[in-house]
Amino acid sequence: MRSKRSRLDQFIAQKLQISKKAVRQLLLANRVELDGQICKSVDQQINEFSQICFDGNWLQRNKRQYYMLNKPIGVVSATKDDIHPTALSLLYGIEPELLHIAGRLDLNSTGLLLITNDSQWSQALMAPETKVDKQYLVTLANPIDDTYVSAFAEGMYFGYEDITTKPARLEPVNDFQARVTLQEGKYHQIKRMFGRFRNPVVGLHRESIGDIILDSTLKSGEYRHLNKKEV
Ligand code: URA
Repeated sequence: MRSKRSRLDQFIAQKLQISKKAVRQLLLANRVELDGQICKSVDQQINEFSQICFDGNWLQRNKRQYYMLNKPIGVVSATKDDIHPTALSLLYGIEPELLHIAGRLDLNSTGLLLITNDSQWSQALMAPETKVDKQYLVTLANPIDDTYVSAFAEGMYFGYEDITTKPARLEPVNDFQARVTLQEGKYHQIKRMFGRFRNPVVGLHRESIGDIILDSTLKSGEYRHLNKKEV
């Protein structure tokens, strides 16, 4: 989701249903404040978080919002779905309109899901160039061995998309569990990587994204605001 940049005069004209010429007069008459300052500039750029006040009345006052959700199985990482409950529907009492998910999880995956209305933030966090580690605890149907470690580290070629996965870290936890760290998120990536060993994933739980660690006090389906440090 892209940051919604637009021009101040266009925004006011649309909001007040007046012409751009009329907006110019309002600006010149010092009747518009942008982020707490009188604004006279017609071609001023704004975004969805610009605070815009006209004659003391708010025309736009969106606050940046950041949440972590402990996603349960059976909840879809989407804003709308006809069959399954969506992650956004678990944020009770919060208007879902502007919110989106930063880094999806599959329907049957669990754990850390970040939800925000700040598209610049989510884009920066999830861009492959940013190289943010995403850590998962993976439970397998069959035992794993050391050959998995080098295969994950070397990367795997997927002919369908003609891509080779970036080096990933696999640390065995026990015979049936491993901690996997990726810096990317291709479609069903972890399941497909274990698929190379014909070893089905039976549990996939995201524990962290960069420095943001899933709060251990959040039960499945619960959420909280991110704190300043996490943001
Ligand atoms: N890899 C997968 O296969 N599924 C997820 O939900 C996340 C990473």
